[in-house]
Amino acid sequence: MDHPTKRTILEVLAGRALKPPPVWLMRQAGRYLPEYRAVRETAGGFLDLCYAPKLAAEVTLQPIRRFGFDAAILFADILLVPDALGQGVRFVEGEGPRLDPVRSASDLGRLDPGKTSEKFAIVAETVARVRQDLPSETALIGFCGSPWTVATYMAGGRGSPDQADARLWAYRDADGFARLIELLVEVSVAYLDLQICAGADCVQLFDSWAGSLPEDEFDRWVTMPTRTMVAALKQKHPGVPVIGFPRGAGQKAERYIAETGVDAIGCDTAMPLALMQDLAPHAVVQGNLDPLLLVAGGAAMAERVGEIKQALAGQPHIFNLGHGIVPQTPPEHVAELVKLVRG
Ligand code: CP3
Repeated sequence: MDHPTKRTILEVLAGRALKPPPVWLMRQAGRYLPEYRAVRETAGGFLDLCYAPKLAAEVTLQPIRRFGFDAAILFADILLVPDALGQGVRFVEGEGPRLDPVRSASDLGRLDPGKTSEKFAIVAETVARVRQDLPSETALIGFCGSPWTVATYMAGGRGSPDQADARLWAYRDADGFARLIELLVEVSVAYLDLQICAGADCVQLFDSWAGSLPEDEFDRWVTMPTRTMVAALKQKHPGVPVIGFPRGAGQKAERYIAETGVDAIGCDTAMPLALMQDLAPHAVVQGNLDPLLLVAGGAAMAERVGEIKQALAGQPHIFNLGHGIVPQTPPEHVAELVKLVRG
């Protein structure tokens, strides 16, 4: 029998300030861990690992065993959604993702939402396996990419520094681009619904490229689709918290919170602690240690951890990084971080 009330992250997401704050880290499963690299080698490609429930569950659990984080995050990728839609996603060793670009409304015909359920079911099986093996006090976070960020990869056919293809498409043919966003809203809600039904306690929407948009476009392509997703999820699962991570939102975060109805906001490394303090009465704040301070470790990391904890003491706060762990992170520094957060 589960005891969800003992899951500290859920207590904080319900609005309680805990001392010390609960902690988990974005990309806590991954290449910085030797045990991940070992499993990855047996799996074949990265997508093969994502679609092997036993192995994906194993790598989800690895950082929990090693560091005792307060939450596990499902091992998967935001690009599983375009893959499930039939876009043709590959991960090229040392180069990152490659997709057959979708750059106009007529390209949308190549995507088939009817196809997604098969691959989504595989991910749901991973969720169920993780939940079964996870300590009952550890929360399980499901996730997907937010429509805007996923669309930037779909249009670019790869990661890009400026998301130019999606931005240009959105400027030149806003109605056509809106159809892609609407499609992503629909399939992403179905995907998260499956994850929640399989045992995810809360979900996070990764909007890694939210920061590349001016305010009107931020409203249309980041805030409004997120609002629709949150409303649909709340209707199906009123008690399941949603964490939004609009990376780079800066001053736009306040309106994002008010308009979307997210329960919590992931704060990136650049967000000032004073702004996090201003946001805290409106949503639970999560973040925002620089992932490179985790690489550096030592006194610089310890000092900043202290500042973050102090700035948000008395507020519902989930300790995290401002972006994902990078591969060159020494695992000992992660252990040290958890000690500092809990110390
Ligand atoms: O956080 C976790 O531990 C859970 C798993 C997770 C992964 N990706 C695994 C992964 C999560 C939550 C993601 C999210 C993700 N994926 C985002 C949003 C967060 C962010 O980082 O901005 C994005 C943009 C992606 C897309 C993606 N996946 C890229 C651009 C790359 C290549 C770059 C890289 O870091 O290798 C990936 C690959 C990826 N996703 C890896 C992992 C562990 C490395 C793949 C490997 O093992 O070779």
